[in-house]
Amino acid sequence: MSVTDARPPVQSNRSIDTIRAEFPILGRKTYLNSCSLGALSRRSEACLAEFTEQWHEMGASAWYGHWLRRIEELRVKVAAFLGATPRELALLPSTSTALSVIAESVRADGRNRVVCTELDFPTLAYQWAVRPEIELVVLPSPDGVRIDPEQFAEAVDERTLFLATSHVFFTTGYEQDLAALADIARAAGALSLIDGYQGAGQVELSLPETRVDFYTSGPLKWLCGGPGLAYLYVRDDLVELLKPRITSWFATERQFDFDLEGFEYRGDARRFEMGTPAIPTVHTALGGQEIIDEIGIEAIVARNRALSTRLVERVRAAGFQLRLADTKHRTSIVMIHHVDPPGAVAHLAEHGVVVDDRPGFVRASPHFYNTEEEVDRFVEVLGAYRPGDDR
Ligand SMILES: Cc1ncc(COP(=O)(O)O)c(C=O)c1O
Repeated sequence: MSVTDARPPVQSNRSIDTIRAEFPILGRKTYLNSCSLGALSRRSEACLAEFTEQWHEMGASAWYGHWLRRIEELRVKVAAFLGATPRELALLPSTSTALSVIAESVRADGRNRVVCTELDFPTLAYQWAVRPEIELVVLPSPDGVRIDPEQFAEAVDERTLFLATSHVFFTTGYEQDLAALADIARAAGALSLIDGYQGAGQVELSLPETRVDFYTSGPLKWLCGGPGLAYLYVRDDLVELLKPRITSWFATERQFDFDLEGFEYRGDARRFEMGTPAIPTVHTALGGQEIIDEIGIEAIVARNRALSTRLVERVRAAGFQLRLADTKHRTSIVMIHHVDPPGAVAHLAEHGVVVDDRPGFVRASPHFYNTEEEVDRFVEVLGAYRPGDDR
């Protein structure tokens, strides 16, 4: 049996080598940084080439012949992947924009508190920090890894407008229990707003089952679709109740009437959209999403768990300390304490291993297309680095 045969398949009818052949970077680098940027596939590249060819061939008529349709195809695919309906999904340029649109859509009704956590990605807190009328409550982590649902339950009350937090924390990999958080928010009459950039694509997810009100994500990381787009899910019942105070011509019912006095919010989540989406990214995102859908999230989760478990074991055996969630809440973001994270990351890069660093840590994030050999190589090169070596 060859080494290749010995590797577990990601999906029974598709070998890991077939999958890897889709992602050229894997033939050039040991790429373990999908929580920052998912790998670019040949499939995405082909979709992008189709887009540029249509641009050459048709110019502006490609909008009507092709590109508007591709936007809707992406919406349908992503909605299905999230367990949602297309009418609940808006396409926006970034998570930050999606969060801002929601902040500008909800009336305070006497509530002026937003509860987030110190482990959230900063752009989530910034949305409220710049609004003087909002009191921002930042929950501290008891261990630097997690926040307990009880902390939210204590902090979220009749003054709270949003419980706003992450699905998976970007520097601990801890997956929060969204259903518990949504219920806590609802019981207090508050709304749940989840930054799922590090969630969708690396954990199983059906948004209606979580009962969250809002969820943002995007193709950039675990969905292998590149930068330039974000997905905003708004729970069905809320869509038509909300009237964003920042808007665009994509948000109006009769977009192509060009009637300055005829603005009327669309009856679906497109009412939250902020103008023309990044069409190149619509194409690369379609390619990535196709692959993710073909492999299936269950297989991806299983594969990522196997790889990250191995990474954790090997890194520990090499003498490193980890900042790690318990196994129930653990995902494929692995944080390794290091005295010189930027130096270690530079050393790894010189040896063809791509990971990144966050203050105090080297961060590695294997995805379904990685192999056990790559994990081992990362640990070996990391272990060989002595601070000062590469300076
Ligand atoms: C959890 C999380 N939220 C948000 C972002 C970025 O948001 P934006 O699309 O506004 O750049 C990142 C990383 O890029 C992230 O990890």
